[in-house]
Amino acid sequence: MVNAMKKVLSGIQPSGQLTLGNYIGAIKNFVSLQETHECFFMVVDLHAITVPQDPAALREQSQSVAALYLAAGIDPKRSAVYMQSHVRAHAELGWLMTTLTSMGELERMTQFKDKAAGKDSVGAGLFVYPSLMAADILAYNADLVPVGDDQKQHLELTRDLAGRFNSRYGDFFTVPQPYFPEIGARIMSLDDASKKMSKSNPNAGSYIALLDPPDVIRKKISRATTDSGREVKYDPAGKPEVSNLMGIYAQMSGLSLQEVEAKYEGQGYGSFKKELAEQVVAQLEPMQQRYHEIRSSGMLEEVLREGAAKASETAELVVEGVRERMGFLKR
Ligand code: TYM
Repeated sequence: MVNAMKKVLSGIQPSGQLTLGNYIGAIKNFVSLQETHECFFMVVDLHAITVPQDPAALREQSQSVAALYLAAGIDPKRSAVYMQSHVRAHAELGWLMTTLTSMGELERMTQFKDKAAGKDSVGAGLFVYPSLMAADILAYNADLVPVGDDQKQHLELTRDLAGRFNSRYGDFFTVPQPYFPEIGARIMSLDDASKKMSKSNPNAGSYIALLDPPDVIRKKISRATTDSGREVKYDPAGKPEVSNLMGIYAQMSGLSLQEVEAKYEGQGYGSFKKELAEQVVAQLEPMQQRYHEIRSSGMLEEVLREGAAKASETAELVVEGVRERMGFLKR
């Protein structure tokens, strides 16, 4: 096809409750990109097991992430929605990519350093995690990868590995581009604006889970840390807490940061926070209703089966091409 649509791939780990950070950093862009791109959205269960997972919890979380994709507006007729482990090409290409990656590259990964810090024993899977992520992306020759800012370094490694493969074995892989949201590529914790909002934070008040009931959302936002000033002003260096909340406001309401600033000029933080909570609830409450309908409808299994079949078609062809170029015998 001459005018083939550009390809988009991304994934989210089923390793805990998804947060507003996941939504603004990633899922919201998944939904908008599917209008104009051929999209592959996975639940990355193979990545989740790089740290120990309880099997029952992994099963539940996997279904939960898939249902949230659909509830957020990903249309399974347009986009492939599937489990990473259901497409065997990921594990296979993951190994091939691991052999192209150097220890030094993996040792420099800040996410690895953070996750391994202070642990006596660190799984080898956690170390080679970025090679598998590169395989996820390259298996589709994806052009664009919508992610939050914390995945930047993994994307750079993916680009390097694509380039390395191409120079060793001849031009084959598309070198993918990351795609970050303009505002909110890194949503910060509500209690500490120097840390990213994360599902693994033991303080549940630090994040808004996508499935938090409206009153919990209101309470968390009313308790969010601000500063001793009064001005609703976007200044990430000088006013990191307020700027973070403004970013969330802008993403939830569709207003620009300037418009948010103008709206609350001279008003202090009270009404700003109250209305921010209402903006978040207005976005999440209908999503939560759809989520519960999807979970009780029993439709997920088929969506995931069809998604995996569609994804396998593309990924298998790519892996065959890689095998051939690397010198494996035909099977
Ligand atoms: P994960 O599961 O940690 O997060 C999923 C997505 O959410 C984004 N995100 C955030 N964005 C803004 N602010 C935040 N506080 C925030 N927290 C999380 C992440 O950047 C990510 O886009 N390694 C990936 C999963 C993965 C993947 C892939 C992604 C595996 N294979 C292939 C893209 C392509 C991860 O752990 O994301």
